[in-house]
Amino acid sequence: MSSFELERIIPLDFTINTDRCRLRCPSAADIPDVFSATRFAGFNDGMQWEPPDSIDELDQPLRDNLADWVAGTTYCLTIADPTTDRLIGRIGIRRTNAAKPTRSERANVWNLGFWTHPNYQGQGYMTEAAISVIKFGFEDLGAARIEASYALWNKASQRTLEKVGLRIVRYIPHAFQKKGRWIEANKMEITKQEWFNLRASPNIDRS
Ligand SMILES: CC(C)(COP(=O)(O)OP(=O)(O)OC[C@H]1O[C@@H](n2cnc3c(N)ncnc32)[C@H](O)[C@@H]1OP(=O)(O)O)[C@@H](O)C(=O)NCCC(=O)NCCS
Repeated sequence: MSSFELERIIPLDFTINTDRCRLRCPSAADIPDVFSATRFAGFNDGMQWEPPDSIDELDQPLRDNLADWVAGTTYCLTIADPTTDRLIGRIGIRRTNAAKPTRSERANVWNLGFWTHPNYQGQGYMTEAAISVIKFGFEDLGAARIEASYALWNKASQRTLEKVGLRIVRYIPHAFQKKGRWIEANKMEITKQEWFNLRASPNIDRS
């Protein structure tokens, strides 16, 4: 059976429950909290999207997120407080066209991106969410490999990715542009085999 055949349809009401969070499809109710995150100085500096000028500019990205979910190309999940349903952060897993997929991988390589609202950073939320989404990628999406990139200066992102098991594979001198300047980045990845090995490790709780 190929990795594509392992993939299943993910309905819009799909959720992932972690110890402290519920990960769910984005909704219009999230928009004020997304907008509020982008008002913090430097919040968008490590990401390829820019802060919106007005809250209305976030309507179209929400429609795009839902369309991509239905198409099965990107699952952007709101990390929500399970009691209030308020947004803590976002994490997305996007199918990518791997530059050189091995035969067994075909094109089933997925890319991870994330942010935590500045009011909730440094409390372990993204580590918790990323572990659960990597599990989702390998178990539900049939991923063969999961990649992520971080701007070299972005130590919080690097540390989060290291903590959840990714390793650096490549330096990218011109990853993306910010204010007209190229940002250098590192690409990281974890293969399905590495993830299984980590899960088997007695020192890591990845249930
Ligand atoms: C990167 C980001 C998502 C991390 O979210 P978070 O919820 O704060 O992450 P966690 O609390 O799970 O922390 C993960 C690790 O990063 C470390 N960390 C957090 N901020 C850090 C910083 N400024 N410098 C170094 N390490 C940092 C934490 O200490 C923790 O490691 P530890 O357990 O060894 O102490 C968050 O900083 C963020 O949203 N940044 C802005 C958006 C962004 O850059 N996204 C990533 C794009 S690639």
